[in-house]
Amino acid sequence: MTKHAQSTVPAKLVLGDKTIELPGLVGTEKEHAIDISKLRSATGYITLDEGYGNTGSCESEITFIDGEEGILRYRGIPIEQLAEHSTFIETAYLIIYGELPTHDQLRKFSDLLTEEEMLHEDMKHHFEGFPSNSHPMAILSSMINASSCFYPGLMRGGFEPHRFEVQAARLISQVRTIASFSYRVSRGLPIIYPKPTYKFTANFLHMLFSNPYADYDLDPQIVRALDLIFLLHADHEQNCSTATVRMVASSKANLFASAAAGVCALWGPLHGGANQAVIEMLERIHADGDDGSRFIRDAKDKDSGKRLMGFGHRVYKNYDPRAKIIKKACDDLLHKLNIDDPLLDIAKHLEEVALREDYFIERKLYPNVDFYSGIIMRALKFPLNMFTVIFAIGRMPGWIANYKEIMENPESRIYRPRQIYTGHTKRDYLPMQQRG
Ligand code: ACO
Repeated sequence: MTKHAQSTVPAKLVLGDKTIELPGLVGTEKEHAIDISKLRSATGYITLDEGYGNTGSCESEITFIDGEEGILRYRGIPIEQLAEHSTFIETAYLIIYGELPTHDQLRKFSDLLTEEEMLHEDMKHHFEGFPSNSHPMAILSSMINASSCFYPGLMRGGFEPHRFEVQAARLISQVRTIASFSYRVSRGLPIIYPKPTYKFTANFLHMLFSNPYADYDLDPQIVRALDLIFLLHADHEQNCSTATVRMVASSKANLFASAAAGVCALWGPLHGGANQAVIEMLERIHADGDDGSRFIRDAKDKDSGKRLMGFGHRVYKNYDPRAKIIKKACDDLLHKLNIDDPLLDIAKHLEEVALREDYFIERKLYPNVDFYSGIIMRALKFPLNMFTVIFAIGRMPGWIANYKEIMENPESRIYRPRQIYTGHTKRDYLPMQQRG
């Protein structure tokens, strides 16, 4: 169950001749909030915060971000330490269950992932129904939702604590299987089944790139680079997709339905889809023979309709700590694989120029996680439309942990924001003959 934030000095709100006291709250990292949940019943007022830029929608124990300082911690542990010492699966356990696993817990978790990795055979037919050029994010969200039909417990809806462990493992494991199947189908290639002897990330590469006659050569550097990408995406508190997962979960929808909604929210280019958009932008700059300087000029001009994709963040007003780790991993990987990618040079030049420009400095726009991750995925030979799918596989533990937090909180209520209505005032229905 979610612990409550501590009470602190109340805030006073003056509305005309009335002064209202609103409870003050403080979290474990000294983040302050004003509890306005009773404001409307006491005063008739709501708060308005389009895009929720300054609205806390929940108390959560999972992930802490200090955007001003560029800090990210999962369950209190700095992302830099996890990136150096942990694996995606160990980190997934930490995020979902709150503590680093013991040796036995990790083994049990890994075994469960292996047991649950196969899709129901009947699901294979669903893949055939998609046109061959379908975007894998569309396939992923549809198939996650469809797979709940194969598990009657899920179809009953609601939360089954005694089955949660299995459902969580099934989701993490099967999302990877669905993603690889959708890739194979979209290329007209035969499906490759998971190998129980392979670990999570190696198995994904195997299902994607092996063929029926020869297994994919699993280079440990490639496996580690992809595992790091998953780990760095594993959670990021109340972003657009996680807030969507919580929104759906708040109606007591099942875990798979909530995660499918998260995939849809992640897809957009302002969120997870930015990793694809960054590469498309770099490719355009390269094709135009620009080193990035012209593009930066356009990105500063609101009328151009261009933005520097992979730059800027609602929360980070400093360098995204994940981007720092990914930039280094990208340099190391390309060096080790002896790859010379002109897009990396353009990206570095863009960053250098942008970080010197007043426009970006004044608005505190820095590279975010998506700026360099696409270049790693290119080096790993993922097609462009799979980039956001990789993000979704990585984000699954965060969505699951947030789902669990909602379901285990007896005080959680259905999410239901209010609005300020700005449409017509009351008017009468006009019969068709009288309409202009
Ligand atoms: N390029 C140029 N200008 C930008 C950029 C950018 N990438 N990002 C923000 N700005 C400008 C805005 O035009 C605005 O300028 P103004 O104050 O003069 O009007 C100011 O910076 C603030 O930007 P907002 O759009 O209000 O910031 P918001 O918090 O709503 O949006 C977002 C954040 C969506 C990430 C935005 O920075 C953006 O579009 N970035 C590019 C897309 C991207 O990389 N998304 C991935 C984010 S990370 C993730 O979701 C995994």
